[in-house]
Amino acid sequence: MSDWKSRDRKYVWHPFTQIQTAPEPIVVTRAKDTILFSEDGKEYIDCNSSWWVNVHGHGNEHIANAVAEQVIKLDHVIFAGVTHPKAIELSERVAELLPQQLQKVFFSDDGSTAVEVALKMAFQFWHNQGKPKNRILAMDGAYHGDTFGAMSVGQRGYFNEPFESFFFDVDFLSFPSKSNENELLEEAEMLFAKGEFAALIVEPLVQGSAGMRIYDASWLDKLVAIAQKHQVLVIFDEVMTAWGRTGKLFAMDHCALKPDIVCLSKGLTGGVLPLGLTVATEQIFQAFLDREKSKAFLHGHSFTGNAIACAAACASLDIFEQEGTWQNIARIANFYQDKFSELENHPAIESVRMIGTILAIDLKTGEGNTYFSSIRDQAYDFFMKNGILMRPLGNVIFLNPPYCITDEQLHFSYLKILEFASSLDN
Ligand SMILES: Cc1ncc(COP(=O)(O)O)c(C=O)c1O
Repeated sequence: MSDWKSRDRKYVWHPFTQIQTAPEPIVVTRAKDTILFSEDGKEYIDCNSSWWVNVHGHGNEHIANAVAEQVIKLDHVIFAGVTHPKAIELSERVAELLPQQLQKVFFSDDGSTAVEVALKMAFQFWHNQGKPKNRILAMDGAYHGDTFGAMSVGQRGYFNEPFESFFFDVDFLSFPSKSNENELLEEAEMLFAKGEFAALIVEPLVQGSAGMRIYDASWLDKLVAIAQKHQVLVIFDEVMTAWGRTGKLFAMDHCALKPDIVCLSKGLTGGVLPLGLTVATEQIFQAFLDREKSKAFLHGHSFTGNAIACAAACASLDIFEQEGTWQNIARIANFYQDKFSELENHPAIESVRMIGTILAIDLKTGEGNTYFSSIRDQAYDFFMKNGILMRPLGNVIFLNPPYCITDEQLHFSYLKILEFASSLDN
């Protein structure tokens, strides 16, 4: 055991890890573009974009320079009673990129807090108008983060069991498929007609943690139309789907109808620093304006609007203005498209799906799709041994790489996927 590893074992408590049985973590000491370099001289292709955040890869110089400049100029300043140019610039640029009605930007720290803020905004929006509504409609399999509000609107079971008695009431709609689409819309119509729902929250088009499950924009449009007809606020949690992941800047760009609130994080800063944004309509914002202070949105975090994170986010937006970024996104999607039928026809593969830079493969298990599939650890170890960091979600293996991944790295990862699938077929 190297020194780093023993020191880690002694003091560090890792997330989402049963430390008693988990293998030792690898010690990454450096990263550049898509490659993670470990202390023992090994290299790993970061096919996971390090929990889906490093959209431009690691060690991006444009972002690094912006961060360095900002640290010297203004590192951090309290964000109540004070503002600063980078937060203003970022708000302007994000509002300009989003549909016109999404205008008011609230800052927080990560995906979970961006969702927490959205939920609190939705509840208080109705409360401030003297029309309290206390129900939320979410979707089966949802993952919106690990704080209490975000957990409440997420899939129950597995991860949340010890906390379930503390969650607020949420109704869950089944995940849509061709066979139940209309039924679900009727169910939503019936629920919303009760007038008790403050909001609908969804991960638009792709449920990430549920196994990169993809559904149609046209169905989502119909669901949003029903919510809007019944004056239910619509929250899109774009924490994972934004910043080019689905082939467009935001997943909502595939939809005709737009949400009232959107949650952004992960790739917002290029994955370099933590930052969350919750962007709401002018109408929502107006409901918080009053002579009474108690009607204000009395929520905030010490690091709200952190100037260095804002500078990183502005630099990341510069990179999205470059044609090369979009060419890379299209190149990755084309690569998946080329390989799609070969994967679909593989005897060890149950099904394949893709959208933008996400490719997901359900491996046949004989035990259905489950997060605790025994294949998960087997796959993780296989890919790590082959220099690929991929974190399968149960029996779902997926690619969600930085956009700078090279053709060679993509091809190598693809060959290893085939090799692993074939090893299961024997
Ligand atoms: C859709 C979605 N929402 C929220 C979150 C929570 O984000 P964070 O881990 O930054 O708190 C995640 C994280 O994976 C996510 O995928």
